[in-house]
Amino acid sequence: MDHEQPVLGVDIGGSSIKFCLVDSKEIVAHTTMEYVDRKNPNSIIEMIGEIITKWEHRGHIGIGFPGMVEKGIIIDAPNLDTAWEGYNLPSQLKDVVYGDILIINDADAAALAMNKQTKGWENENILCLTLGTGIGSAWLRQGELESGTEYGRIIHPELNCSLEQFASVRTMNNENLSIEDWAIRLCSILEFLEIEFKPDRFILSGGITNDSSEWLSIIEGRMNTPITISKFGDLTGSIGAAKLHSV
Ligand code: BGC
Repeated sequence: MDHEQPVLGVDIGGSSIKFCLVDSKEIVAHTTMEYVDRKNPNSIIEMIGEIITKWEHRGHIGIGFPGMVEKGIIIDAPNLDTAWEGYNLPSQLKDVVYGDILIINDADAAALAMNKQTKGWENENILCLTLGTGIGSAWLRQGELESGTEYGRIIHPELNCSLEQFASVRTMNNENLSIEDWAIRLCSILEFLEIEFKPDRFILSGGITNDSSEWLSIIEGRMNTPITISKFGDLTGSIGAAKLHSV
């Protein structure tokens, strides 16, 4: 693929969109746009168009989307708007994008950026989680992405709600939980995933991982499985989205 032009990575989140420009060597630029109004297709296409114009971007774009995506078509968007169901975002973006457009689930995209971050990645089955409005999941099995897992939607047998309803960052905010109480909740779901799926390691990403000093030790003290924090923090998703173009 031609990477004279940097690739634009777009991470569509529940409360904001993160953009980054990546070339084969470095992150050239990045920015975050908060939603001001609705989170429907037209408003999000407008936001993407705004950045493309501002950055005069003429290359490819990769998109991480917070819901199920099959062959470029959005199946659902639980944290955005029902207008996304069945929507073909790449074809609707053609008028504003010059290069090729690829789209996958946001957690699957983030996992692409989490690949090879740990010493033993070639041998490990790593469960990657993105912590935000929802909880996204993806496997890296010896460096190979296994997509479409959606573990955040699993109903916990004892808690009687989904893993993300119990321990997402949105839940922490909505229920005014302290960071310590949230970390204990996160532990419960990590322990559940540990028993169900036996990962060799968890890697965590999302805005809350930009500073894990107040909560990581709480989790590490209770868990047997090693935990790594993505070195790209809240840019993990947008960098991974750019990587869809093998940048
Ligand atoms: C969605 C997932 C998404 C995750 C993180 C969940 O609510 O169901 O598809 O990956 O949030 O955005």
